Amino acid sequence: MPATGRRSRRVAVLRCIVAALVVTVLLAGLAVLVFWLVVRPKPIEYTVTGALVKHFNITAPPAAALNATFYLTLAADNPNRRVSMRYESLELYVHYGEGEGAPQLAIADVPGFHQPSRNETRLEVRAVARAAPVADRAARELDHDRAAGQVAVQVRVSARVCFEVGRVRSRHYDMRAVCSPVVIGLSPKSARSFPSVPCDVAIS
Ligand SMILES: *[C@@H]1O[C@H](CO)[C@@H](O)[C@H](O)[C@H]1NC(C)=O
Ligand SMILES: *[C@@H]1O[C@H](CO)[C@@H](O)[C@H](O)[C@H]1NC(C)=O
Ligand SMILES: *[C@@H]1O[C@H](CO)[C@@H](O)[C@H](O)[C@H]1NC(C)=O
Repeated sequence: MPATGRRSRRVAVLRCIVAALVVTVLLAGLAVLVFWLVVRPKPIEYTVTGALVKHFNITAPPAAALNATFYLTLAADNPNRRVSMRYESLELYVHYGEGEGAPQLAIADVPGFHQPSRNETRLEVRAVARAAPVADRAARELDHDRAAGQVAVQVRVSARVCFEVGRVRSRHYDMRAVCSPVVIGLSPKSARSFPSVPCDVAIS
């Protein structure tokens, strides 16, 4: 075969490959765009809508221990029209004070559930601290709160979820919500005037 023929054939093959690549990229982009337009994903929202604490008592330091039963109501809102959610597990933690390093007071497990699209699910959670060990400084502050009649906590939610569109299920995601500060009055009357606390939600 003459050299020019071989070259022109190589150019034709190259042109074909480039065209195929361009078409593939365009089709992939179109698929993503159509998916986005059809599904229109919206963020999941969490709100603490009720909080009450009972049996709140703490021993004096050193070796302080806390008793408390936290009754928390959370609204988990899935505003999506086409996306439903499967919660495989959900844990709720009550931490004392604000910030990352706030000490943990109580924990609760919520059984998994399925949340349909456009649905707000109310979660009623009871987290119990039974003779939970507390550092000296936090114990003194908690005792001060007891006397003052209100305690400020941080509610953290950690869940493992899948998203479903029709029958297609996504991979597992870790969802975290942080609600802070949640100020809980210790008198039985205060639960009636609890102001809702919105949470920061992150999915990874
Ligand atoms: C906490 O509760 C346990 C029993 O559940 C009790 O023995 C302990 O004295 C209580 N502590 C406080 C500080 O009330
Ligand atoms: C709180 O605990 C103290 C002991 O640390 C106990 O004397 C007191 O009765 C307890 N109060 C309540 C309301 O349980
Ligand atoms: C949300 O879904 C749950 C579980 O399917 C259901 O019990 C609840 O009534 C729904 N809430 C609304 C507001 O549709």
